[in-house]
Amino acid sequence: MTTDVVTMDKIVSLCKRRGFIFPSSEIYGGIGSSYDYGHYGVLLKNNVKNQWWKSLLQERDDVVALDSAIIQHPRTWEASGHLAGFTDPLVDCRTCKLRFRADKLEDAQCGRKPSKHPGETPECDLTEAREFNLMFETTVGPVKSDGSIAYLRPETAQGIFLNFKHYLQFSRKRPPFGIAQIGKSFRNEITPGNFTFRMREFEQMEMEFFVPPDDAQRWFEHWLSERFDWYTKLGIRPDHLRLRAHDQDELSHYSSATSDVEYLYPIGWQELEGIANRGDFDLTQHQTFSGQKLEYVDTVTGERYLPHVIEPAAGADRATLAFLIDSYDEDEIDGEPRTVLRLHPQLAPVKAAVLPLVRKDGQPELAREIELDLRERMQVEYDPGGAIGRRYRRQDEIGTPWAVTVDHQSLEDRTVTVRDRDSLAQVRVPIGELGEELERRLRSPWRSPKLEG
Ligand code: GAP
Repeated sequence: MTTDVVTMDKIVSLCKRRGFIFPSSEIYGGIGSSYDYGHYGVLLKNNVKNQWWKSLLQERDDVVALDSAIIQHPRTWEASGHLAGFTDPLVDCRTCKLRFRADKLEDAQCGRKPSKHPGETPECDLTEAREFNLMFETTVGPVKSDGSIAYLRPETAQGIFLNFKHYLQFSRKRPPFGIAQIGKSFRNEITPGNFTFRMREFEQMEMEFFVPPDDAQRWFEHWLSERFDWYTKLGIRPDHLRLRAHDQDELSHYSSATSDVEYLYPIGWQELEGIANRGDFDLTQHQTFSGQKLEYVDTVTGERYLPHVIEPAAGADRATLAFLIDSYDEDEIDGEPRTVLRLHPQLAPVKAAVLPLVRKDGQPELAREIELDLRERMQVEYDPGGAIGRRYRRQDEIGTPWAVTVDHQSLEDRTVTVRDRDSLAQVRVPIGELGEELERRLRSPWRSPKLEG
């Protein structure tokens, strides 16, 4: 394994420089911990989300999709327990006037904020902890009154429970089956930070898998290994990934067992995804609060039960950040330093760059012709300008796995060179076979080159 050169600062700077992720509202001075995805960021995050969908909807036949509303009936959050229990303990410091999570004082480095305590050894003077609800409140309709209060969803999961009955009635689904969705969630985090790791507005990829009660443990174990493998198949180094079971006092109010998939971020081991056994907590609550029956009834045997739920809940932003960090590398080519994202080709924002060696002799025209043909098959980019070495490095930095170069020979024999981002090998390929060759490479199994050497 090569030494890890990555730091969070390098990732933040690369993301801004190359248009992956920008601080939001920057021309107004920014707004804490909100980020906007630029061109390559959108392509990368879309690829992450598409791989998640693919693993559930295309590669299996027991999961279906949903896209539910962000604003749901406010009773949802009474039933789910979020209104009463989705809180973090908040403390204020009387000296530096900063706010911290009482259970995460070390993370906030409380007491070590030199700028807030000039000339003195900072000692925070903390208030008693009080519970702070993380849900964003809003009002529905033009008149602000008590009756119109609603919440921006703090998790996508509840939209799935509210729609469960539709899937039983109209799609005739029977457990075991899952309902998956990707969407924005909102939490008024007390201490957001570490770039896109903890934000107030973020995207979740959640699936609720409904099972007969006696099968819950078996399915819990199934999803632990499925979800762990999803990250490693997409190139995350296995020694940077682990499963950690929650202690009893860490469990959420709805969970009887949870394990986190944790990634070794530059800030240490942190949660990437949580896999919970939610039992029948949610369906029971919604059945009680709505007065609607949410049982599964087997029309042949007459058997009826409230299914138990196994929930793999991942963050699209946290996963995207982990893929960026895990792929980041630095090396030297012919004495020149290079920054390279060794992304799995399936995740790379751009699959191939088409580069004419010089801007004359018909090379740009041929390169354009190749680019147009490849565009039918994959995301490609045409880059005619500058020294070829610099153009290769520009593509390396955004993780483009293959660079296709058109040179004087291309006009004679209709072949091009294909340069590999990681091995740097260059092979000549007939233009007529290029599309299929790149598609073949894209489909091939892949392993992070950071594991070798
Ligand atoms: N339905 C269960 C649930 O929401 P969670 O562990 O609170 O569980 C699931 O959230 C995932 O959502 C986390 O593992 C993380 O990847 C992502 N996530 C949660 N809070 C986040 C935040 N403030 N910023 C970015 N991602 C977040």
